[in-house]
Amino acid sequence: MEIKDSKKTGILDFFFLMKQRRNRNSIQSIGILALFLWYSKDHNLQTVNISAFFALINNQKNLLSMKSVRYSFLARVILLFILLPLLSAAQYPEAKTELDKKVLSFLNEQSGQWRDMNVPVTDGRILYDLILDGQYRNALEIGTSTGHSAIWIAWALSKTGGKLITIEIDKKRYVEALANFRKAGLSDYIDARLGDAHDLVPSIEGTYDFVFCDADKWWYKNYFIAMESKMKQGGCFVAHNTNMRSADIREFLAYLEKNPAYATRYERNSRSGLSISCKK
Ligand SMILES: C[S@@+](CC[C@H](N)C(=O)[O-])C[C@H]1O[C@@H](n2cnc3c(N)ncnc32)[C@H](O)[C@@H]1O
Repeated sequence: MEIKDSKKTGILDFFFLMKQRRNRNSIQSIGILALFLWYSKDHNLQTVNISAFFALINNQKNLLSMKSVRYSFLARVILLFILLPLLSAAQYPEAKTELDKKVLSFLNEQSGQWRDMNVPVTDGRILYDLILDGQYRNALEIGTSTGHSAIWIAWALSKTGGKLITIEIDKKRYVEALANFRKAGLSDYIDARLGDAHDLVPSIEGTYDFVFCDADKWWYKNYFIAMESKMKQGGCFVAHNTNMRSADIREFLAYLEKNPAYATRYERNSRSGLSISCKK
């Protein structure tokens, strides 16, 4: 089932579904919709696809199709609460400051509009949590694109007192990323650089406690080698798309796992795969 990010689409789909339906469960379903909207508002589940959700709970033919299972209103409510923790996986942090509100409002507006190989919300949230947990402050991103992951990283850094350097080779995406950083209110936390990371990463100065690598996969190992000595103790080199079955990714992961100076683990909640290698 395709998961889209549009709440509006979900609601329209839902009413279309209601119009088509002739059975007596419509009023019950409207009740569930109200309950779900109330829950999603309070828990910032804006990325949840409501149409997918209602397809799940309403489509008796595809789901729960056993004739013997005549699930009632109560069964639907139970299903709702079983599904909510799964749907909550992509949830946004709670807004506590004016900046949080600005970032969240931008992310909500932009929901479903990230089309330049950007990370999904779930992975953005994982990066955000990693930075807060480790209290990292000196971050580097390789592969900005239009800035989705950078926004999550910079948002976390705004809370730890840190700053992000992010590198992008494509001028159009770089310019769009700059505009996105402004709209999200995070420009002060991001130093965006236009250029080839093959050159910029080896020559970058300073030490880092958080690196997010999301550019050309075949160069991952070289990026890691270039950053190895610039990583602070306890700092982590995080790489995206490590579930890809390419020879380059396999070689990169083998290199990480054999490296005695780093402990590497994998984030299971990321569908694309995230390796997290922290300097001992
Ligand atoms: C997967 S996208 C990054 C997505 C981004 N992290 C996000 O979530 O919004 C990879 C980006 O890396 C950039 N890229 C690829 N090779 C690069 C290089 N050698 N130097 C800098 N950027 C590069 C691409 O232009 C592309 O925009």
